Amino acid sequence: MRTHYCGDLRATDIEQTVTLFGWVDRRRDHGGVIFIDLRDRTGIVQIVSDPQRTPESYPDAEALRNEYVVKIVGRVSERPEESLNPKLPTGEVEIYADSIELLNGVSKQLPFVISSLEAELVREDVRLKYRYLDLRRDRMAKNLQLRHKVVQTMRRYLEDEQQFMEIETPILTRSTPEGARDYLVPSRANPGQWYALPQSPQLFKQLLMVSGCDRYYQIARCFRDEDLRADRQPEFTQLDMEMSFLSEEEILTLNEGLVCQIFKSIKNIEIPRPFPRLTYAEAMEKYGTDRPDTRFNLTLVDVSDIVKNSGFKVFSGAVKSGGKVKVLPIPGGNDAISNVRIKPGGDLFKEATDAGAKGIAYIRVKDDNKLDTIGAIKDNLNEEQKAELLARTGAKSGDLLLFGAGDTDTVNKSLSRLRLVIGEQLGLIDSNKINLLWITEFPMFEWNADEKRLEALHHPFTAPNPEDLNDLKTARAQAYDLVYNGVEVGGGSLRIYQKEVQEKVFATIGLSMEEAYNKFGFLLEAFEYGTPPHGGIAYGLDRLVMLLAGEDSIRDVIAFPKTQQASCLLTEAPATVDEKQLKELQVKSTYKPKAKEEKE
Ligand code: AMO
Repeated sequence: MRTHYCGDLRATDIEQTVTLFGWVDRRRDHGGVIFIDLRDRTGIVQIVSDPQRTPESYPDAEALRNEYVVKIVGRVSERPEESLNPKLPTGEVEIYADSIELLNGVSKQLPFVISSLEAELVREDVRLKYRYLDLRRDRMAKNLQLRHKVVQTMRRYLEDEQQFMEIETPILTRSTPEGARDYLVPSRANPGQWYALPQSPQLFKQLLMVSGCDRYYQIARCFRDEDLRADRQPEFTQLDMEMSFLSEEEILTLNEGLVCQIFKSIKNIEIPRPFPRLTYAEAMEKYGTDRPDTRFNLTLVDVSDIVKNSGFKVFSGAVKSGGKVKVLPIPGGNDAISNVRIKPGGDLFKEATDAGAKGIAYIRVKDDNKLDTIGAIKDNLNEEQKAELLARTGAKSGDLLLFGAGDTDTVNKSLSRLRLVIGEQLGLIDSNKINLLWITEFPMFEWNADEKRLEALHHPFTAPNPEDLNDLKTARAQAYDLVYNGVEVGGGSLRIYQKEVQEKVFATIGLSMEEAYNKFGFLLEAFEYGTPPHGGIAYGLDRLVMLLAGEDSIRDVIAFPKTQQASCLLTEAPATVDEKQLKELQVKSTYKPKAKEEKE
């Protein structure tokens, strides 16, 4: 029987005989004395074997190699002064091995070094192919433990302090619209019909409120077939919550309690409450995005009114066609940012044009606090306009003003992109800072230019602000997102719980009554049987843990993630299936490999 985990041994255990199980992290032979770093999920402890003090175990110690699995019985001893290791929690002790039993060896060359003491940079595809080995490594093992602790804290807070109940909802279900493509599963029992995997448990959690469950949560797997990025996976995990009879204010307060508890237990940090809030309109105005990184102070300034009559056509034209001209003032930007970077071919030019802008207009503030207008802007701004620009932006000598002009969306996208890139490059972002804020009052709908119709910004079950019911198209939603250092980690809303309002919202996004009842008749019907007012939120667990772990990709906090191509390199999923299985499902593939693929 194991008596201790390796990483738990301390000076207080000296003189004890212990039984340990683990992997050989490293084995070193120091002229007749063998040192073994024995590793389990808690950490490493040093084992010693030599012919004088531990003759029984010495031959077995000699035979050990990296990653062998062993059982070791030994005595905990004080390390000699010269070999104390303050970097290891177990660095004050070592174990004299009375017996070493080999439980299993390694018969193949390891694809990479596992010991964190010999840190090796390994390509991600190799790590993912041998994920079970990658997870033995210190960084990944720590990330999994952190993830576990976050979930544990969530459960304790929600269950023990807030009376939430965990309830599972189906994985084989009907489409739940969250704006992505569905993963579909053919039904053998109902040929020609398909299940959709849930994009979220949205409708089920609302129905649980109709059932009187009052407070629901679930650590829920969600599936979305969308283009992948560092913070997106095709299957990911939400902490999903729904509550009855609470106002938006009460929901936010309860959630601030949850988030603070997480920071307390993971980082031992007290986050001040209430969290700052910005309305969607304010966030777009000041930062050009609904998930601003507010750890640094650069903000956008709308100067449309100042330049709308200027002779510079790029500015005046943008305002006349309903767009905006906004400025990103960069304090000290004159020295820090050269013209080359802003002009075609430069990195900042590329950032802006990648975000849809045609280019960047700029003005430098000279030593005498005057604007140094050059190129096309030169002579096209009068003295009054220049003075107003200086006053509005608060710019001083040495500062650089970057302009975005065009349709509002593109201006916001390109300037918010520049804001982040420049903030990072100028070292304005303190990576130790934790900024959490709520974004509220999102619009209900946004225009989908491809489909030429309005679509729900969150999802169509979000309740409109009661003040805006007269004009639903432009209504604000009772919706909120939680943003953590510029990443959207959670989002939710109060829900519609009246059939008439839900029907109106469906109509606004272009669903005919027939389509609405076809897809969501069960929800509309449920609203007729006594539905309580309710609301909720879902956190992206992977994203939250990624930020808490200081990682840049959610793949590094998921045990078995998928690649950017949505495949699993370990199991080689997705894969072809037997013709027989397809036949049973009455499904036929129409896929024709391209000529090049056929040859391969
Ligand atoms: P939403 O779609 O905003 O809301 O999702 C909630 C949170 O889930 C995370 N997230 C993702 N994480 C990893 N990979 C993805 N592909 C991915 N997509 C989303 C984000 C996001 O904030 N049913 C609603 C919630 C509600 O209204 O209660 C919903 O799913 O962190």
